[in-house]
Amino acid sequence: MNKTNLFFLFFIVLFHASCSLNHQKATTTNEYKHAAVITAHPIASQVGLDILKKGGNAVDAAIAVKFALAVVYPNAGNLGGGGFMVYRSKTGEVASLDFREKAPGKAFKDMYLDDEGNPLTELSVYGHLAAGVPGAVAGMEEAFKKYGSLKWKDLIQPAIDLARKGFPITASQAREFNYYQERFKKINPNGAAIIREQAWKDGDVFVQQQLGETLVRIAQEGRDGFYKGKTADYIVAEMKRGNGIISHQDLLDYQAIWRKPIVGNYKNYKIISMPPPSSGGVALMGLLQSVEKYPLAKWGFQHDSTVRAMVEAERRIYADRATHLGDPDFYKVPVEHLTDATFNQARMSKVNLAKATASDDIKAAKFPGYESEQTTHYSIVDKAGNAVSLTTTINGSYGSCVWVDGAGFLLNNEMDDFSVKPGTPNMYGLLGGKANAVEPGKRMLSAMTPTIVEENGKLKMVVGTPGGSTIITSVFQTILNVLEFNMTAQESVSAARFHHQWKPEYIDVEANAIDEKTRESLLKDGYKINKRGSIGRVENIVILPNGRLQTGADHRGDDTAAGY
Ligand code: GLY
Repeated sequence: MNKTNLFFLFFIVLFHASCSLNHQKATTTNEYKHAAVITAHPIASQVGLDILKKGGNAVDAAIAVKFALAVVYPNAGNLGGGGFMVYRSKTGEVASLDFREKAPGKAFKDMYLDDEGNPLTELSVYGHLAAGVPGAVAGMEEAFKKYGSLKWKDLIQPAIDLARKGFPITASQAREFNYYQERFKKINPNGAAIIREQAWKDGDVFVQQQLGETLVRIAQEGRDGFYKGKTADYIVAEMKRGNGIISHQDLLDYQAIWRKPIVGNYKNYKIISMPPPSSGGVALMGLLQSVEKYPLAKWGFQHDSTVRAMVEAERRIYADRATHLGDPDFYKVPVEHLTDATFNQARMSKVNLAKATASDDIKAAKFPGYESEQTTHYSIVDKAGNAVSLTTTINGSYGSCVWVDGAGFLLNNEMDDFSVKPGTPNMYGLLGGKANAVEPGKRMLSAMTPTIVEENGKLKMVVGTPGGSTIITSVFQTILNVLEFNMTAQESVSAARFHHQWKPEYIDVEANAIDEKTRESLLKDGYKINKRGSIGRVENIVILPNGRLQTGADHRGDDTAAGY
């Protein structure tokens, strides 16, 4: 299957998921007095709530939710993937944790090209070579060491119980499990918990004994229960079986890293988001700065002019992303330039909103001295006011579909987030170059954008989403929905979305995202519009002036808010 077909398949899956979910558009919003958690799965939200009620802080709850999602939401929750956490303490201290996967030591630049230099596209998407070295367990231990307050093993016990005793799957999970059977069988001839002869149905109990044993090792030994000993042996044996390249040394060497978050202003709000190797925070800041001078609130939500300003900003920021963003440990990312309000606003001031700019006419900015579904997000605020915004991923739905035999979990296909060849789009249609080329030990560029917003020194929003390339624009729109268009938390995530990423040329739109009149006006002026299935699954907590926590759980999935 070539990359265009994979891209197409990805959107069919998204479309399938969006059509099959029969949730009503949620317009009422929940409010909680003390603490709130929103995740992609009702059981994971309950696990988070239990920890918060026991006196755990937001990071304790985030760790328990992370392990619970690895059990109850295997298409994106994970032990075999990675992610990013943005944290803000009740006193305003901010931090960001990078537990992104890394390229194995034996990875090399042209590893996904044939002898003629043509991309071997399936290799970076499915099977053993698609997997980067997982960062999830190291990340959770690192978060715990700095901020945890309960006992480590008590944070993992709910996940152990769910894996060993099983849990009832939802209707959408049953459909997805059935949809992926053939692919799982092809990649995992030794079997996998998800593979079975009779079709899965709503409410079937999913038991994962091997995963339960792996979680016990992590509960007892911390990161050593994953990166050393039995679990590491299972991962390396699985690599040998499928011609993968992750070694014992790669696992031993993996470290999560605390990085300085991207912090910037949009009007009188402070935005705190994820720095490289995610492009999320840099691009989000660039987008907000680019539209700051436009009267969006006066124009109104999804008004013709609003859409034009946002799309033209997106077109330019994604062009910059493709050239300048990559792992900062390997490539000098011009963060200061890309998040410079003067630069972004000067560029937008030359844009003619009366006519679409051709994406081919947009080149990434040049700076002096510089030569670069499935993911899941959760938002938590605890009783004291500490906040966690955490996005985690194995990249595509069920990652590489490689089930580590013996250890019972899926490996990511994050290697596809590298640029396998300049000009060749990845599964999200994103382009890249030198900054994001494959190199051993390097982290692949991400779009994940876990974000926290402050207003006048106080916590205002905790927001993020899955959605590959659309993550950044979904967070951008959700923030504007609250700050400019006065929506409640639930309205801000339920509102229909659109997305532009420089290339391809068109604006992706959810049904009803743009009304007929605006659509006609945009088409007349050269904009191209592509209707597609759902975009993102945003979880947004908005803190009201009276301190109450308003929650918006995305109706596009089984997403659930809990609190007290
Ligand atoms: N794998 C999706 C992302 O990191 O952006």
